[in-house]
Amino acid sequence: MKSRTKANPSVATVWVRTASARYPVWVGSGLLRQAGRRLQRLRPGCRRLFVVSSPRVWALWGKELGRGLRAAGVPLEPLLMDDREEKKRLATVEKLAEELLRRGADRGDLLAALGGGVVGDVAGFLAASYMRGVDYVQIPTTLVGQMDSAIGGKTGVNLRGGKNLVGAFHQPRAVLVDPRTLNSLRGRDYRAGLYEVVKCAVIGDPALFRFLEENLEAVLGRQSAALASILLRSIRLKARIVTRDEREQNLRRVLNFGHTFGHALEAVTGYRRLRHGEAVAWGMIAATRLAERLGRVPPADAGRIIALVQSVGRLPALPRVRPERVYARLAADKKRRGGALHFVLPRRIGRVEIRAGLPPAAVRASLRELDPPRAAR
Ligand SMILES: NC(=O)c1ccc[n+]([C@@H]2O[C@H](COP(=O)([O-])OP(=O)(O)OC[C@H]3O[C@@H](n4cnc5c(N)ncnc54)[C@H](O)[C@@H]3O)[C@@H](O)[C@H]2O)c1
Ligand SMILES: [Zn+2]
Repeated sequence: MKSRTKANPSVATVWVRTASARYPVWVGSGLLRQAGRRLQRLRPGCRRLFVVSSPRVWALWGKELGRGLRAAGVPLEPLLMDDREEKKRLATVEKLAEELLRRGADRGDLLAALGGGVVGDVAGFLAASYMRGVDYVQIPTTLVGQMDSAIGGKTGVNLRGGKNLVGAFHQPRAVLVDPRTLNSLRGRDYRAGLYEVVKCAVIGDPALFRFLEENLEAVLGRQSAALASILLRSIRLKARIVTRDEREQNLRRVLNFGHTFGHALEAVTGYRRLRHGEAVAWGMIAATRLAERLGRVPPADAGRIIALVQSVGRLPALPRVRPERVYARLAADKKRRGGALHFVLPRRIGRVEIRAGLPPAAVRASLRELDPPRAAR
């Protein structure tokens, strides 16, 4: 899956192959500067590139992207949006679409998303729906974006009643991952992404799990070699899963480890208290305790999973969240989806199982165990 050529000694390529598309994820330090050349090769004669970004990310990385594009003769037009989660709404997509039309964009043009998951999901949905679909590339600048949201073609926005409820599958033409962009991330945003890396390790990569245990300091210090390792391993895992299950029929559901509880926790805390990754971290702790309670995971593995989650950093406590409310939210989600309540539970490090119909008492008990002192270091 990985190729290194003499011309690009530090660029690795991971391929995603789905029924609807086949595209590269390029990973390499300094890639932002090469974007123009690569996009020109991908779409020869590309007339214009509309880059959806946020003011913050644009101020940090727009210039560098622009330099490479200009050198390759690709004119760039930024389209800036507020990237707070509450702006991940249809209204933002509409505003951007009107702006594209005003600037004369048509299906021959290319879009790009430069930013975190919010920008990526909005720009992806814009690309899926503007003139019934235009090509786009993902240039993620957060850890969550680089190892998760930019890969797989899930795009969409939130409704008042819940997250990501309007959307489309629309695969990008390429994903460009420049780990250097992570250097400007706030610590909390970086750690929120690390919890998702831990998730990848638990669901399918025991070597990544050991790497994290043994090199946590380098990872937390964002040292480039450690960063490259964890990015490549998690990107390969995500690419492999998406390749085998583009539309989340079954296999792709393992990616939801920590997310059943996590989504409920995000919802009952009003999507403001916790970063998504932090909610997932709490969710992984709850799911691991649940698996242990049900005798589905060896206690030693459960202990290592919880210890690794906690050593990434102190999780914000869950004040005033009564387990009953979280449980009610879980049940409501189940009703909305019209199916059974599924949990992804660890069997051992590197392997999970999907279980439905678990005893409510056990689920409630693992929620009650989420008292703040346990998470503090
Ligand atoms: N489509 C998918 O498959 C998928 C998967 C996972 C998550 N998501 C979605 O992704 C979103 C979360 O994404 P996220 O975790 O990237 O958060 P985010 O997009 O909210 O970004 C977090 C913060 O970091 C800032 N930022 C981004 N890049 C930066 C950089 N290089 N330097 C400094 N600051 C930077 C942003 O402006 C923002 O304030 C959620 O809406 C979630 O639903 C989608
Ligand atoms: Zn997630």
